[in-house]
Amino acid sequence: MKAFFFLGFVAAFSVGATVGKYAGDKVLRLKPENEEHLQYIRDVSRSAKVDFWQPHSVELVTTNRSVDFRVDADRASDIQAGLEKIGLKYDILIEDVQSLMAKQFDGNKMNSTGYNYEKYHRWDEIVCWIAKITVENPTLISRFEIGRSYEGRHIYLLRVGKRTGHVKPAIFLDCGIHAREWISPAFCQWFVKEAVRSYGSDSAMTNLLNKLDFLVVPVINVDGYVYSWTKDRFWRKTRSRNPGSHCVGTDPNRNFDARWCSIGASRNPCADIYCGPRAESEQEVKAVANFIRNYKSIKAYLTIHSYSQMCLFPYSYTYLLTSNYKELNIIAFNAVEALSSLHGTRYEYGPASIIIYPSAGGSDDWAYDLGIKYSFTFELRDTGKYGFLLPESQIRPTCEETMLAINYIATYVLNHPY
Ligand code: ARG
Ligand code: ZN
Repeated sequence: MKAFFFLGFVAAFSVGATVGKYAGDKVLRLKPENEEHLQYIRDVSRSAKVDFWQPHSVELVTTNRSVDFRVDADRASDIQAGLEKIGLKYDILIEDVQSLMAKQFDGNKMNSTGYNYEKYHRWDEIVCWIAKITVENPTLISRFEIGRSYEGRHIYLLRVGKRTGHVKPAIFLDCGIHAREWISPAFCQWFVKEAVRSYGSDSAMTNLLNKLDFLVVPVINVDGYVYSWTKDRFWRKTRSRNPGSHCVGTDPNRNFDARWCSIGASRNPCADIYCGPRAESEQEVKAVANFIRNYKSIKAYLTIHSYSQMCLFPYSYTYLLTSNYKELNIIAFNAVEALSSLHGTRYEYGPASIIIYPSAGGSDDWAYDLGIKYSFTFELRDTGKYGFLLPESQIRPTCEETMLAINYIATYVLNHPY
């Protein structure tokens, strides 16, 4: 009896991580103010296993932004002592990463029938969901396989919109470029659910689905997503092997063919922002890029990340503004206004190079330069209290408010044909 209980206990806590792997790990928020502070951060990141949460690499650290990183339990106290010694101000965002890991699964368990959209789902569950929602909604949803991941998994796209028999303008929406940003796939699933649920009853959504198609990729980086559930909750990249290196994976959002690897990306395969051996080296990136290139009627590109609460638009690879900067800025402003109207969640907005950091090889810049002039990256909740470990109890409010922003943009795009 006792042994049985123990096994159940271990199984329950093994979900998402090796038991105790992050016990005592802390997430610190640093506020570097001068070159000495920056140098200290560089030194620490070389000597210890430091996992940058925001920004995503030491190369992106600057004095005008705070830095969130996870440090190993056994290094935390001497790093804190070092920070204090040089007067680098910091907060402890997360005292014990391991204890928050369990708390992320605090979703609504009362949902007894059907798919529970208020929980995070493993890839195999999402695969079943994709199949089921497609067969249940034959006039609204078609499923496509746009390619295979490095490890051979299917990459699915759902075309969501009223079947009309002719080609409609389309809005591309992808989730799960980065593995650890679990709220992102949860949002794509929520979006598809809301679309089919409100078709025929909500006039705004009905109008959108009658006149547009949404091309939704629920998870792009499927191998990374699986790995974030089974081996390392904080995995970001793909899982492709890098010849000559023991480090695995490429950052898919540095792998698009947009001034590839010219700024804000790393040539080091061990970096979290590794740009890969060449543009579109990643099968997942190639699959998405090929689909978008071949599908001629895409009018907007929307991509969902976390965390930071931002609505970003091109460019990332340069500080120069796009030719339609004013229009994009107004759309972003209105989108974040709509979003905040529900729960008061505040978002920053603007060109990504200025608002977050400069970086090349991003999907948003690539789509924009392909001619898709409405291109936005959303960084969903939160601003660091939970970071990537956003509790399931926040899936509903996060998705509900984000729907308002996405629907605003979709309506705008519908009313501004080009
Ligand atoms: N956090 C995202 C990333 O690092 C930011 C995306 C903004 N766009 C971009 N092309 N960098 O990928
Ligand atoms: Zn991301």
